[in-house]
Amino acid sequence: MKIFDEIESEVQSYARNFPRIFERAKGEYVYDTDGNEYLDFLAGAGSLNYGHNHPVFKEKLLEYIANDGISHSLDLHTEAKREFLETFQEKILQPRELDYMVMFTGPTGTNAVEAALKAARSYTGRSNIISFTNGFHGVSMGSLACTGNSHHRGAAGLTLAGSSRMPYDGYMGDDLDTIEYMDKVLSDSSSGIDKPAAAIVECIQGEGGINACTAEWLRNLEAVCRKHDMLLIVDDIQAGNGRSGNFFSFEEAGIKPDIVTLSKSLSGYGLPFAVVLIKPKYDNWKPGEHNGTFRGNNMAFVTAKAAIDEFWSDDSFEKEVRRKGKYIEERLNKIVDEHGEGNFTTRGRGMFQGINCVNGDIAGQITNAAFRQGLIIETSGADDQVIKLLCPLIITDENLKRGIDILEDAVRLVCRRVDEIPEENDYFDDVVVEKNEEKTEVQA
Ligand SMILES: Cc1ncc(COP(=O)(O)O)c(C=O)c1O
Repeated sequence: MKIFDEIESEVQSYARNFPRIFERAKGEYVYDTDGNEYLDFLAGAGSLNYGHNHPVFKEKLLEYIANDGISHSLDLHTEAKREFLETFQEKILQPRELDYMVMFTGPTGTNAVEAALKAARSYTGRSNIISFTNGFHGVSMGSLACTGNSHHRGAAGLTLAGSSRMPYDGYMGDDLDTIEYMDKVLSDSSSGIDKPAAAIVECIQGEGGINACTAEWLRNLEAVCRKHDMLLIVDDIQAGNGRSGNFFSFEEAGIKPDIVTLSKSLSGYGLPFAVVLIKPKYDNWKPGEHNGTFRGNNMAFVTAKAAIDEFWSDDSFEKEVRRKGKYIEERLNKIVDEHGEGNFTTRGRGMFQGINCVNGDIAGQITNAAFRQGLIIETSGADDQVIKLLCPLIITDENLKRGIDILEDAVRLVCRRVDEIPEENDYFDDVVVEKNEEKTEVQA
């Protein structure tokens, strides 16, 4: 670990919770340099929906590289881009009757969000964007203004302007319809909320703690956006690419957002790649207005096309995700009922679910214990209180069960002894062991 301690910036985050050196990965498995095997329920924070190094995508990529395929082309037309666009149009957009222009942005999610916000502001001539409590849209300035988390916002060093926050579905409890509230303040010229260019929303909030809005809430949000002549942007960077049980997380609600952002698992291979989908009438960009050197990653075009061909040529993959999602839901409900002492709750949908442990310290104890038993799993939410299951969608039934078994053991262990956890926590050191082969104690 010496070199990482010596010269890698303090900004590192995931590495702090999983202090190993990883060197290989395949499907839902990751291996460290000591030969330990881990089940990956973090999956690149949603960037590896099809697992690590999918053999079909790898073969296509190796073939492309071996043939000296273009690796960098700014936004020039390339054969790889043509094939990606044709496949995306034929297998993703057309079957869903979605009419979008595809804009290639810089390869990060936050750059796609910046572009989406700019497009909405430019079209409407307004600056205000409605964003939602616990939303996460990235850490560059425009996206950060729409992000709720104070830890991330605090690093901006400037006043974050241009967004008004509204309560997300369920934020005020079950009895208050937060869209009704939004409609009310937007209808009142004295509410203090400037007429917005757009609303930006995640249908399942990932970093904010796996909060899934209902289909009805989403439909009402779309209706309010139409009523107030503002655009609806769905940020599908984490919940998209099949995670919810459909390719897009808004499909279940039957809405048609004006703008959609996609990134993370779009390349299928963990390669940086992001797009903004824009209804043609809002595609008012002048050439190069949202420029960038790395717009459109040719290697990602190759693997993204392979991923769509492999998994989205029919609806069998979606059905599989929904089937596994049901299994996850049943298991998590059972874990919460049996070990949650009336405090824990489950949340999310599809293969984007979690356990709210109320307390970030307890959630951290649980993920820590799980890691020591060979499961990489993270927390999210304002206080890191939600354990977030984000395994690759292609995971086998056997490994899905095994991963949740490890999680259940960790929950049971922590909940049983939570009262005994000392302030300075080296609590697990005496009850767990390092090597996977010897991992028996948590199950005891
Ligand atoms: C919904 C959502 N939007 C935007 C982003 C930002 O993406 P990136 O980290 O690639 O900039 C994330 C990242 O987690 C996200 O979950």
